[in-house]
Amino acid sequence: MHIGGTAALAAGRRTAPRAAEHYVEGPIRAFAIATVFWGVVGFLMGVVIASQLAWPLLNLDLEWTTFGRLRPVHTSAVIFAFGGNALLGTSLYVVQRTCRARLYGGEDMGWFLFWGYQFFIVMAALGYVLGITQSKEYAEPEWYADLWLTVVWVAYLVAFGGTILRREEPHIYVANWFYLAFIVTIAMLHIGNNLALPVSLGHAKSYGAASGVQDAMIQWWYGHNAVGFFLTAGFLGMMYYFIPKQAERPIYSYRLSIVHFWTLIFLYIWAGPHHLHYTALPDWAQTLGMVFSVMLWMPSWGGMINGLMTLSGAWDKLRTDPGLRFSVVAVGFYGMSTFEGPVMSIRAVNALSHYTDWTIGHVHSGAMGWVGFITFGALYYLVPKLWGKRGLWSRRLVEWHFWIATLGIVLYITAMWVSGIMQGLMWRAYDELGFLQYSFVETVAAMHPYYVIRALGGVLYLTGALLMAYNLWRTATSEALDEGEEEARPAPAAPAPAIAAAPAAG
Ligand code: HEM
Ligand code: HEM
Repeated sequence: MHIGGTAALAAGRRTAPRAAEHYVEGPIRAFAIATVFWGVVGFLMGVVIASQLAWPLLNLDLEWTTFGRLRPVHTSAVIFAFGGNALLGTSLYVVQRTCRARLYGGEDMGWFLFWGYQFFIVMAALGYVLGITQSKEYAEPEWYADLWLTVVWVAYLVAFGGTILRREEPHIYVANWFYLAFIVTIAMLHIGNNLALPVSLGHAKSYGAASGVQDAMIQWWYGHNAVGFFLTAGFLGMMYYFIPKQAERPIYSYRLSIVHFWTLIFLYIWAGPHHLHYTALPDWAQTLGMVFSVMLWMPSWGGMINGLMTLSGAWDKLRTDPGLRFSVVAVGFYGMSTFEGPVMSIRAVNALSHYTDWTIGHVHSGAMGWVGFITFGALYYLVPKLWGKRGLWSRRLVEWHFWIATLGIVLYITAMWVSGIMQGLMWRAYDELGFLQYSFVETVAAMHPYYVIRALGGVLYLTGALLMAYNLWRTATSEALDEGEEEARPAPAAPAPAIAAAPAAG
């Protein structure tokens, strides 16, 4: 078994293609719907908490609706519910097609994964609102929800791995390697960071196995790799399948994808300490995290180049396929945030950026730009396929979505850069007598206009997502598209060469 994966769909032309009915698709349709649903919920929560930061009255003076409780609802809704459903759904779609094998465990397995995962999301979100949390960022759910997620995740690994094992293709296409790294590493991180002792079976409360700086180190080993393997590796799997499909071109370079894969997964796992600069963590560990983070820039850009260059000779498609535009701009944001991240990991830079809105700007250029846009691109490609339509209901709405959301991101991240750098500089400003020049509340007041701009950016991003939800719903339900009516995207004349063909086409 090697990563080359040349044959993935190429072999699809050697033998007759499998009938669509051969594949498990019902649960994947459900994952697509859940992605859109949770996306809207998560973005809405983002707008709510952004507005609370601008206008604190919106905390409503109720414990359930305070920023502290709603913030993890937002982060979990966008990462685990929106992103997670997108990853589960697309990975199950991609693995079946590129392996030309039916999902291991069949429909039942697919539905178990779907409902099992939604149950986890609801359990986690309810816990946050009620104030049940183990207070670890991105790992807030208490032990009962963690145990359930472990069961679902093991089933996911079995389904995904089992499908690969029963594949009819000799090679494992590179997208599957990224998805597999995501599944295996998340299992390891989830278990490692959640080792805890429940207080008693009757209480939703536990104490972590580690304490003090060790606990912090494990938490950020988890937290950073949640970024690296959940928000990056999994979505790179999406990139490696959907961009070649949309561009109808083989991936630019298989050799580069191999280098990209191994260097990325080797380097990411060491970079966690950059979240703990200037803390009680030993200096050598901080330096190690910094050095590995700086090195991460290279494989990240290798991946970006591979994604973008796949469009060589097909750039004109950007004019005709607005879904592809999302995917390509997503890769641009991936490049941007993976340049910014290494810069921020340098201790001298982190001395300014840490705890400020600069971090929030970095997060959202990665999250809204890369994670969000690559998912929107994949959904625009997938939904017509999954519902047996010839194309999308309205391309114009996709264009609107694209421009509104892009404007939203630009407003969001530029506001955060300005406010973050200003905040950092104000915190460290001294007067001629050596006293701090600004009180904390002055820094908060100075940030107000930027918080309003950020909330506006969020509203635009949310509006775009609502347009997408409407468009996809009309696509799925429009009978006219069955017959290939006017609005439909032109069907490719020949079977899409997409992911096929030769190693290192470039
Ligand atoms: C409508 C769009 C969005 C808005 C308005 C929004 C707003 C916010 C706000 C106000 C915060 C809290 C910032 C703070 O504590 O100072 C936040 C945090 C966060 N958001 Fe979003 N967000 C949006 C979309 C997203 C998306 C799509 C993702 C991921 C896919 C995401 C991931 C995160 C993460 C990981 C954090 C925590 C950052 C940290 O602790 O450094 N957000 N968001
Ligand atoms: C080469 C890749 C990257 C490196 C080296 C990197 C580095 C960093 C650094 C240094 C911080 C600030 C830590 C602090 O001061 O507390 C940070 C925060 C963060 N980054 Fe990145 N980043 C990278 C890519 C990304 C991408 C692509 C995403 C999103 C998809 C992302 C999401 C985040 C999040 C969510 C945080 C906030 C964590 C928290 O404090 O809650 N990063 N990153």
